[in-house]
Amino acid sequence: MCPAGTDNVRVLLAGAGVRGAKWARVIAEAPDAILTGIVDLDEARARRARDEHAPDAPVEREFASALAHVAADAVVIATPPDSHHSLVSQAFDQGLDVLCEKPLSDDMDEVLDLIARADEAGRHLLVGMNFRYLPTSQRIRHYARSAELGALSYGHFTYHRQRDGNRHDLNDYVMTMPHPMLLEQSIHHFDLLRYCYDAEVESLVCDTWRPSWSTYEDDCCVSVLFRFENGVRANYLGTWTAAWNRMDFRWRTEFEGGALIQREQFGDLVRVDFDRGLGLRGSNFKGDAEAETPVPETLTPCEAFIDDTRGLLAEFLCAVRGEAEPVTTARDHLKTLLVVQACIESMEKGGWMKLHAIRERFAVPDSGGS
Ligand SMILES: NC(=O)c1ccc[n+]([C@@H]2O[C@H](COP(=O)([O-])OP(=O)(O)OC[C@H]3O[C@@H](n4cnc5c(N)ncnc54)[C@H](O)[C@@H]3O)[C@@H](O)[C@H]2O)c1
Repeated sequence: MCPAGTDNVRVLLAGAGVRGAKWARVIAEAPDAILTGIVDLDEARARRARDEHAPDAPVEREFASALAHVAADAVVIATPPDSHHSLVSQAFDQGLDVLCEKPLSDDMDEVLDLIARADEAGRHLLVGMNFRYLPTSQRIRHYARSAELGALSYGHFTYHRQRDGNRHDLNDYVMTMPHPMLLEQSIHHFDLLRYCYDAEVESLVCDTWRPSWSTYEDDCCVSVLFRFENGVRANYLGTWTAAWNRMDFRWRTEFEGGALIQREQFGDLVRVDFDRGLGLRGSNFKGDAEAETPVPETLTPCEAFIDDTRGLLAEFLCAVRGEAEPVTTARDHLKTLLVVQACIESMEKGGWMKLHAIRERFAVPDSGGS
């Protein structure tokens, strides 16, 4: 993680809903940032965040008015996706660096336009992929990159959540948006697969569907088979409509020398050292008593949605101060959005989709820049 700087960065926050409230706390508590203003069309929400975290910060209803009246170096945008293109563009027009929540947009042309605008303005544009900074994610990435357990071979990622969209402490817009699971939740999981496995998707096949008791208008079950460019395979099932209220997260990765199994969404990562010879001894279908014993990975304690967001904010502040090149950029996010786009096309057309074909169709340059 980037170390705290000596210069305070003045950060304006747009959106004080479910996610914005977390951002307000994280920015206000950062040793090297000042929460310099809070904007929300629902002013009561902005005032609540102000009262809890930054009593001196001005509150505004309109983003344009806040840009005109509040002195800031950078903006964090935590409003619904359909407002991102407009708000990010306005921030660049004022010469500010931006960190915007995901998805940057559900429209690929808007995403490409924002990347071009960032380049023209010479500003940073980062995206809210905070789960990269969970200790579990960092550890999986370490194993994938270091080959400490040998070469990575394949992964199996499952996320079963009964997320009732009618809860008062959840946002409303996802109930009616197209592809809510893909664009709001699976997008994080696809980003984690890319980031932790340090590999890009070569092709995929996807199916999505809507169980009868779902509270979402569009599909909220997503199943994908991935082939990565380095030959790694992954099998994904994610849903917001389950028939058990217990959150059930499991991400298992097989390496040549053993397995990593993450058994909870924000922790409980265990490592298995593979004993090849054991396959010839004992019973054919081994239980806990006979198989290799999983060993818990020692991880730094982490408050979900707060400590991971702190890591992302630190990356952003370092970039704003010009101390380090960011990695969680819009250009990087574009690769995750291309995966989402490939899923939608695979589901609509049926069959395997090659990522390079979609990249070429949207005229996405190969790499580089922020
Ligand atoms: N990275 C994460 O872990 C994470 C978690 C949850 C949500 N999110 C993302 O955060 C964003 C917001 O989600 P949410 O759950 O907080 O939604 P929400 O509906 O709870 O809050 C959005 C807020 O934005 C305000 N708003 C809308 N348009 C605005 C505008 N033009 N100017 C100013 N304020 C405006 C609304 O009044 C509302 O208070 C989404 O992009 C979502 O995907 C990210």
